[in-house]
Amino acid sequence: MASESMKFSTLVVHAGAEPQPHTAAVADSIHLSTTFVHAADGKRAPAGLEYQREAHPNALALERALCSVEGGAESLCFASGMAAISALMHGLDGNGEVLIGTDVYQGTRTLAREFLQPAGFNVREVDHADSDAFERAIGPLTRLVWLETPSNPLLSVGDIARTALICKAHSALLAVDNTFASPALQNPLRLGADVVMHSTTKYLGGHSDVMGGALVFARNDRLFERVAHYRHLHGALLPPFSAWLTLRGLRTLSVRMDRHTRNALGVAEYLATRSEIERVNYPGLASHPNHAVAARQMRAFGGMLSFQLKGGRAAALRVADALDLFTNATSLGGVESLVEHRASVEGAQPVTADNLLRLSIGLEDVDDLIADLAQALDTL
Ligand SMILES: Cc1ncc(COP(=O)(O)O)c(C=O)c1O
Repeated sequence: MASESMKFSTLVVHAGAEPQPHTAAVADSIHLSTTFVHAADGKRAPAGLEYQREAHPNALALERALCSVEGGAESLCFASGMAAISALMHGLDGNGEVLIGTDVYQGTRTLAREFLQPAGFNVREVDHADSDAFERAIGPLTRLVWLETPSNPLLSVGDIARTALICKAHSALLAVDNTFASPALQNPLRLGADVVMHSTTKYLGGHSDVMGGALVFARNDRLFERVAHYRHLHGALLPPFSAWLTLRGLRTLSVRMDRHTRNALGVAEYLATRSEIERVNYPGLASHPNHAVAARQMRAFGGMLSFQLKGGRAAALRVADALDLFTNATSLGGVESLVEHRASVEGAQPVTADNLLRLSIGLEDVDDLIADLAQALDTL
């Protein structure tokens, strides 16, 4: 039913949906079976399924939908975003070099440093908001460039189309972590990337109640086959109920992202007027250093932002504690607004400035969110 020519908000409602042949049910069923009937010759039946660790109907429905909304040829869903990143990195055969952006999700950096590097890959970090830096850093040994845009937690933006051209010229793969933007706001494959990654735990699930991750591939090629094989052997597939919940979340992504984005812009504009704040990191503000690139490659600027307080760590902790409506918790992309002091959750050697608070802007009324921030800032 879904077709490429549909507008995003139509596509997201219908992508991957198939009529339920036996029951005529409109809503998808949850298929818990771990095993599937063999054909008469003892081999796999024509429907193609054999054992749940490899594939199951709910994962396949979600993967069909993700291919549609990201414009990909193949998709694989995983038990978490980290499982997806790990599978992709381990799916690279041979060795060589991996370039990752300087401001990426902390888990991605740690995985690359602690597991990819010892496995024989040289991992180097490059300022992802500066595509000239990628051009200087990339070389004949580079296998993969990992771009997270907008990035976590600084909301800096890398130029996907330009980085894709640089990668192609050097036969390197470009993977983009699209978690902060979601497919509603940005489609990296359409800008030349080879693989898109999502922590579906965030905007795709959308309700802070289901973990998951996904990769969407531009091509059905050896890389896709290897990552699928890795997922099968490592038991990293998303379970049926999680796949079902994630697809249900995806159905409302378009309307949720509209509200997240409108609210976040209102909050960012308000925070920019407060004298206690040194800097607001939101790509939708004209003052953001990468605003022009963001405006070119994103349909809107998303629901995430961060800000840095003049009063340092003490002021940041004070504001986080004084907020009422914002819940002090990690993660993002749910219906409720969250605040987090990133440096506190980054372990013994945090890389994030200790005066920074990250906000995941939810679906509440923006006036209530601003009022809560105002009273918290007034306590300084
Ligand atoms: C940008 C980004 N990528 C990847 C991940 C990892 O995803 P998960 O927590 O689903 O494993 C996160 C988690 O916060 C994230 O924010």
